[in-house]
Amino acid sequence: MIVQSASTLTEISQRIFQAVGCSDDIAKRVTAALVDANLCGHDSHGVIRIPTYVEAVREGHVVADARPSVIRQTAVTALVDGHWAFGQVSAAYATQVAIEKAKGAGVSMVGIVRCNHIGRLGEYSTMASDAGVALIIVAGGFGGRGVSAVPFGGSKPLFGTNPISVGIPAGVQPDVLVDFATTAVAAGKIEVARAKKAPLPPGSIVDREGRPTTDPEDYYKGGALLPFGGHKGYALSVMVEFLGRVMTGADAYAEGTRGGPVYGHSGTLVLAMDPTVFVDAAQYADAADATLARLKDVPPAPGSSGVMIPGEPEARSRAQRLVNGIPLAEDTWEKIQSTARSLGVS
Ligand SMILES: NC(=O)c1ccc[n+]([C@@H]2O[C@H](COP(=O)([O-])OP(=O)(O)OC[C@H]3O[C@@H](n4cnc5c(N)ncnc54)[C@H](O)[C@@H]3O)[C@@H](O)[C@H]2O)c1
Repeated sequence: MIVQSASTLTEISQRIFQAVGCSDDIAKRVTAALVDANLCGHDSHGVIRIPTYVEAVREGHVVADARPSVIRQTAVTALVDGHWAFGQVSAAYATQVAIEKAKGAGVSMVGIVRCNHIGRLGEYSTMASDAGVALIIVAGGFGGRGVSAVPFGGSKPLFGTNPISVGIPAGVQPDVLVDFATTAVAAGKIEVARAKKAPLPPGSIVDREGRPTTDPEDYYKGGALLPFGGHKGYALSVMVEFLGRVMTGADAYAEGTRGGPVYGHSGTLVLAMDPTVFVDAAQYADAADATLARLKDVPPAPGSSGVMIPGEPEARSRAQRLVNGIPLAEDTWEKIQSTARSLGVS
């Protein structure tokens, strides 16, 4: 294990993305998303992705300097064409559109098609809660190469990890951040466990024969992810597939990248809500803070250090890692360095 500061990782990542063809602002956007995922403790969506993202540009799945645009819109809806840009660019753009529309009309719904991997979904729900808007974001149909989950009761993988994130603004308390895959673990966490040569938690994956296993290598030999919480996690993943892929019409935009789409049938849906539609701003802030205070007042269970609010683990990790640095598996750091060397970045 080695430790790097957020600023070192930011510098090397920006230079790599510039070298692979991104404009400066796009290199900064993608880098900020990756390093922030590491700071939040979600290493699966951090700089570990740099080598595969560079590969995706080389293979034509990601267009390094592409920018999203609105295909059509109303006062409360918009359909965004990601033009196969980096997903972090498209999702940040769509989230901004959704925030502005919700501030004007109270609610909004924005879809993204021709959408690449959007990274840590919590980034977008946090953008909204920072702006005083509640937001739900789902990414459906991201079961591209090598990422697949078994539907509950089935024997063959079909879905991606179908994540969902919700951001809810509070008053003076920290905002609520709900953010997870509807599989027992995010696929990137298998990569992290593989790099560390560590076992996965039981109930995360099955091997190619459908047998439970904790060995991350079994996943890469034809295994699959399991939904979290049995039929309930599976039901949520069906919901995400419909909202993200079916309702956005993503399948109709699947053609068209040089190397053939990895995430061709994937779509993202953003739903934004002004939390002060039914109550005034002061009443909302007081009620939100009182709800959080009631949660924190619940006495700890035996052996527990107490109740945390969703979003608290990420905030604690950020505070700690900004001071102590970001731990990376040696294998991950070596792959980033080798990607840098292949692009002439020292
Ligand atoms: N772009 C994609 O296609 C994609 C796919 C899957 C996952 N992801 C991302 O991967 C990341 C990791 O997903 P995951 O499923 O491993 O998440 P996870 O299982 O680590 O759960 C994280 C969520 O649970 C909350 N949480 C954790 N411990 C808690 C506690 N003790 N008390 C209260 N709340 C607690 C966190 O605040 C957060 O909301 C997420 O950021 C997700 O968006 C992205």
